[in-house]
Amino acid sequence: MQTALVIGNWKMNGTLAEARPLATAIRDGLKRPRGVEVVLCPPFTALAAVSEIVKDSAIRLGAQNCHFEASGAHTGEVSPPMLAELGCRYVLLGHSERRRECGETDELINHKVKAAVAHGLTFVLCVGETGEERRQGLTFPTIEGQLRAGLAGVPVESIVKGVIAYEPVWAIGTGVNATSAQAAEVHGYIRGLLSELTSKETAHAIPILYGGSVKADNVEELVAAPEIDGALVGGASLNAAGFIALAKKAGRAGATSRGD
Ligand code: PGA
Repeated sequence: MQTALVIGNWKMNGTLAEARPLATAIRDGLKRPRGVEVVLCPPFTALAAVSEIVKDSAIRLGAQNCHFEASGAHTGEVSPPMLAELGCRYVLLGHSERRRECGETDELINHKVKAAVAHGLTFVLCVGETGEERRQGLTFPTIEGQLRAGLAGVPVESIVKGVIAYEPVWAIGTGVNATSAQAAEVHGYIRGLLSELTSKETAHAIPILYGGSVKADNVEELVAAPEIDGALVGGASLNAAGFIALAKKAGRAGATSRGD
């Protein structure tokens, strides 16, 4: 990994009146971020406005979801080409909130991954176990199932251009993050699976992000841990000053863990 990757997932937050000043402040606070690539994922309704604000800046744009078709009779959905047209480079797929609230299955998520690839978007495939699965010792099988199914039939050359986010469901929005040791253990496991699906050399180039209650005061420890290449940040991405501090710390921590 050359640089840490920090993605702000605003979820269903951000009217235009809120999104514009937030994106502007983040852009202005991260003019030349060192050692970190920063991506903002506002809600669909704010993508065009945020795209305009971050164009020609160091900040990249992403979406929180997409449909797997390019167009058609899918009321309420948004397609990959629509996102690409707005300047999105990234798209989150398989977030646990969508798996839980919208019933997204691994098979559906796999269709979306393929569609993102076909339209030149970088997919961020989210995987993670629930608290119950962890208690039952099912963390690794859960992650393995989600990862293999999500990437089924995706060619190696496309897998290596993607991003994986490990987001333990019990850590999302709870204020209880996985410890760096807990996260590093699962990241190492994911790296091993990616090595099987691609090759040992190429698997190392695929960013594996940690997500779940990441804040400015725990990001350094997490990103400095082995196999953690960045962070997917929900709640803490809604405060400009806090998110700017978090991104800068991730850049420094990534550099330290790489020995730069
Ligand atoms: P959180 O959310 O940082 O608010 O825990 C992370 C996520 O769901 O991506």
